[in-house]
Amino acid sequence: MDFHNLFLFLMLQFILVVIDNDIVQVNISNPEGCVTGIQYNGLDNLLEINNHESDRGYWDIVWDQGGEKRTKKGAKGKGKLDRLETTNMRVIMESEEQVELSFTRTWNLSLEGKLAPLNIDKRFIMLRGSSGFYTYAIYDHLKEWPAFDLDNTRVAFKLRKDKFNYMAIADNRQRFMPLPDDRLPPRGQVLAYPEAVRLVNPVEPEFKGEVDDKYEYACESRSNQVHGWISIDSSSDSTGCWLITPSYEFRSAGPLKQYLGSHLGPTMLSVFHSTHYSGADLIMKFGENEPWKKVFGPIFIYLNSNSDGFSPIKLWEDAKQQMVNEVESWPYTFPASEDFLSSAQRGKFEGRLLVRDRYIRDAFVPVSGAYVGLAAPGDVGSWQREYKGYQFWTITDDKGYFSIINVLPGDYNLYSWVNGFIGDYQCNNIINITSGSEINVGELVYEPPRHGPTLWEIGIPDRSAAEFYVPDPNPLYVNRLYVNHSDRFRQYGLWERYADLYPNEDLVYTVGISDYKKDWFFAQVTRKKDNNTYQGTTWRINFNLDSVNTKGTYKLRLALASVHYAELQIRINNLDATSPPLFSTGVIGKENTIARHGIHGLYWLYNIDVQGSLLVKGNNTIFLTQATKDGPFVGILYDYIRLEGPPT
Ligand SMILES: *[C@@H]1O[C@H](CO)[C@@H](O)[C@H](O)[C@H]1NC(C)=O
Ligand SMILES: *[C@@H]1O[C@H](CO)[C@@H](O)[C@H](O)[C@H]1NC(C)=O
Ligand SMILES: *[C@@H]1O[C@H](CO)[C@@H](O)[C@H](O)[C@H]1NC(C)=O
Ligand SMILES: *[C@@H]1O[C@H](CO)[C@@H](O)[C@H](O)[C@H]1NC(C)=O
Ligand SMILES: *[C@@H]1O[C@H](CO)[C@@H](O)[C@H](O)[C@H]1NC(C)=O
Ligand SMILES: *[C@@H]1O[C@H](CO)[C@@H](O)[C@H](O)[C@H]1NC(C)=O
Repeated sequence: MDFHNLFLFLMLQFILVVIDNDIVQVNISNPEGCVTGIQYNGLDNLLEINNHESDRGYWDIVWDQGGEKRTKKGAKGKGKLDRLETTNMRVIMESEEQVELSFTRTWNLSLEGKLAPLNIDKRFIMLRGSSGFYTYAIYDHLKEWPAFDLDNTRVAFKLRKDKFNYMAIADNRQRFMPLPDDRLPPRGQVLAYPEAVRLVNPVEPEFKGEVDDKYEYACESRSNQVHGWISIDSSSDSTGCWLITPSYEFRSAGPLKQYLGSHLGPTMLSVFHSTHYSGADLIMKFGENEPWKKVFGPIFIYLNSNSDGFSPIKLWEDAKQQMVNEVESWPYTFPASEDFLSSAQRGKFEGRLLVRDRYIRDAFVPVSGAYVGLAAPGDVGSWQREYKGYQFWTITDDKGYFSIINVLPGDYNLYSWVNGFIGDYQCNNIINITSGSEINVGELVYEPPRHGPTLWEIGIPDRSAAEFYVPDPNPLYVNRLYVNHSDRFRQYGLWERYADLYPNEDLVYTVGISDYKKDWFFAQVTRKKDNNTYQGTTWRINFNLDSVNTKGTYKLRLALASVHYAELQIRINNLDATSPPLFSTGVIGKENTIARHGIHGLYWLYNIDVQGSLLVKGNNTIFLTQATKDGPFVGILYDYIRLEGPPT
């Protein structure tokens, strides 16, 4: 057979399947279903040839037995890593237009405790004339199967260390990267945890003194659509390798959930579910007798090249254009699994969102850019912890209209949040989407939490602490990418800067005089003492009241952008930190956002009644005590604070 007369061919060997469309050749181990080789642009393999064949391109999960049988309890539990090596391969489709392969593994009770109780079906698709290939997978937990937990699932590609040295994850987040060997001692020195390494003697001296940490490259789901690596093959020839995720409907926890993507390795990940920046609330828990099936993907592994000089921008711009093409083709028409539904099998949900906050304007105001989404029925804001179903999000246009298209059949609630306003909107009616359905709900009105007029406010209600003061990093711990950058918060070690700025006395903020951009440190962290212990801190907000309604009730709104093992206590006009607080959150949060250089994790809103009798005419002080002291990474990122007077 003359393969070169075919646009696409499939070669079956005993331990290997090769798919090739004359542009890209992909080798997949048979029947394990691991990608062992990607040949493109004259490079015999883009994947790291020194890695074992099961450690180059693979799906994996981290899982544990459920309930009492969970071996590792809590957020620190690591679970069991399983590369989902399969036991059977089937050719689903083989035509001149498309090859689709299915690699499956079937679970039964004899595997209890050894493998996660899931049937796995990993698919690989190559299309004629396409510069890349697709992969997706179907996980199926049958009704009578035991309980289990799923901590993490993803697709990983390990690229060649000797080739790929330029990484791009956003227009303003791309750079030449150090070598993986630079992380190893004595070239690298581990900092406060193993992921963060200071490059003390890198092979390329230009990286000397920088910090490398994969969490500095995490991305929110909404902006995690294309990222990857570029290799310079010669002075004129370069190759790009990209992961394109055309939809985040199958990722857990909505648009703001942060995931790892590309980072030093060189590694490219498409993570569908993880606990990062959220904690143990995001461990997927399945009970006994709980059937569940989910399709993850397809995602596209896209390859491009440039032979007229090294121009990473050209390859990046081309990859972004390809991402747009993939998004426009979503949902794809070609996947052969009947579990992946076409556009015609999905439904549409439309409407208009208005906001009414009568202390700002007594009118129903359309808002543009508000996120509106359908997710599994639940409580207000529950989408940020939701993981078993699919989520469908869009943003409103400048008249407040929204249209959520290609929604999979099922029952949902409608959720929304609006930058500039606190809280979460939820429409409690169950929305039943069926194939081909088109629902228009008309006008919906979000009335954000409001009690009385704003007396003062600190920050912007947008679920992030980015507007507050983010210090420069310690010069010893710089990632040069984030110097003079909009994402200054991604630098390592900023938690230590608080004690540098406030060695003895804590932060004091005076309403009307202080500026939150300069005077409100972005995280209320602990302070390290000389004896290597840590202290909680008490911040003060001073404010003046011209008059006080002593019989009225005031309202303190505390919107938090993330917490990690923190306890926030509120006291008013009472310096005695040993007296019972007016309010305490109790110890909350396991988001680890401070150590992971994030600017938000989960959103928390507290609404606290303040009796007028606690306030005085003239100067008042609110004391915000972060009471836990378990190391450097506990603390609070505030989103927004507001004091409202009694209703008028
Ligand atoms: C794929 O397998 C074929 C056949 O064994 C081999 O000739 C080729 O070098 C392999 N390519 C890659 C990229 O591993
Ligand atoms: C259960 O799965 C194992 C591993 O795939 C297999 O060897 C065994 O035959 C299966 N047992 C039944 C009853 O299907
Ligand atoms: C939603 O519609 C489907 C299909 O018509 C039906 O099976 C399901 O019970 C409905 N759910 C609700 C809550 O009405
Ligand atoms: C920082 O960025 C600004 C605006 O992009 C630029 O004008 C300035 O020169 C930069 N400063 C440094 C030190 O790079
Ligand atoms: C460490 O020092 C702080 C004050 O600097 C003190 O309150 C604390 O008790 C000391 N802890 C230990 C274990 O010595
Ligand atoms: C109130 O606080 C302001 C700012 O801290 C201070 O300048 C002023 O003197 C105080 N007034 C009184 C009456 O304490």
